[in-house]
Amino acid sequence: MNHTLCNQIDWVGAVDWNIRDFHSYQTDRGATYNAYLVRDEKTALIDTVKAPFAGELLKNIASLTDLSRVDYVVCNHAELDHAGALPEVMRAVPQAILVCDKKCAATLAEYCDTSDWKMQIVASGDRLRLGRRTLQFVETPMAHWPESMATYVPEEKLLFSMDIFGQHYATSQRFDDEVDFATVMDEAKTYYANIVVPYGQAVLKTLERLAGVDIGMIAPSHGLIWRTHAGKIVAAYRDWATQHVKPKVLVLYDTMWESTAAMAHAILEGATRPGVSALLMHVRRTNLTRIATEALDAAAIAFGSATLNRGMMPMAAAALNYLEGLRPQGKAAVAFGSYGWGVGGAEAIQESLRRLEWEIVSEPLRARWRPTPEVLAQCRRVGELLAERAVAISQANGT
Ligand code: FEO
Repeated sequence: MNHTLCNQIDWVGAVDWNIRDFHSYQTDRGATYNAYLVRDEKTALIDTVKAPFAGELLKNIASLTDLSRVDYVVCNHAELDHAGALPEVMRAVPQAILVCDKKCAATLAEYCDTSDWKMQIVASGDRLRLGRRTLQFVETPMAHWPESMATYVPEEKLLFSMDIFGQHYATSQRFDDEVDFATVMDEAKTYYANIVVPYGQAVLKTLERLAGVDIGMIAPSHGLIWRTHAGKIVAAYRDWATQHVKPKVLVLYDTMWESTAAMAHAILEGATRPGVSALLMHVRRTNLTRIATEALDAAAIAFGSATLNRGMMPMAAAALNYLEGLRPQGKAAVAFGSYGWGVGGAEAIQESLRRLEWEIVSEPLRARWRPTPEVLAQCRRVGELLAERAVAISQANGT
């Protein structure tokens, strides 16, 4: 197993093969918590791992150097999948200086007792000379926490990017060119869609800050290291952060007695045409992680639910609540759904679409008990309209 990024810089993190729920993000391929050891005249550990993997991290470090030789521990991010092991690590390397920005120091102090730690507070532009190599710090606030920071090694053109550019993908390989490229990009997209999307403006500022930086390799805090395709993941982040969408219509729905399902299929039929990708998903049979990922680059979304208890069905409400939190932008949309003796489902969806500030192309489509042929024809027409808007929106943003 090759863990070496370049001369005397190695991955020393942990692979979490069996994690399937990362605070509600469904991680079908597991995860890794990446930490890196830079050995020079001085030795620096870049980030740690989730607390249960502290022993594994220390063992990996000890296989390369004596723990007493660790001079610095850099904390780029205080979230506990990277800083959870810090207390145990700092106990194991008491001579080491913890290097982080001011906000990170404050956050760490809320999580654990840092009073005995030697600390060095850094800010953007600060440099730490290790010998032949230098660590240069770039604060990246709100990408995706307030204290987020990246660390750059100019002599190796190597960026430790923290969470951004990461993927939840447990593998024995460490580099992007050792695995199927479509798979690693799909996992990177899933990661962006479920973790990073609300912070697009912060990502764009980070990309601006990095524009003048000569980057040969990107080593994120999760998943594969971008050794061969660094330019491609940076370009993909620029696309995602600018909400570039594709000519794609996503039909999401939940149904009680198949009336809303019939409407969903009629909308899909109307949206199906050359040059447009039309996709249908039952929200109770599709996990939220996948729904958010498909929504990321869809230019148009039809969202439907039967009325239950004067509102949406529960999983439809969960999916919309999740999307409202993530706030993907730049979409055309329509609400639809069946009802019986009282309305409420499609109306609640319409309110949610308004809060999302998506372009609503029609009044909600409604069917009482069973959709009539006229209602199904209306659904097909709205499907056609969504496909037209999807093409127009994607062309307008250059996709
Ligand atoms: Fe991977 Fe924001 O922690």
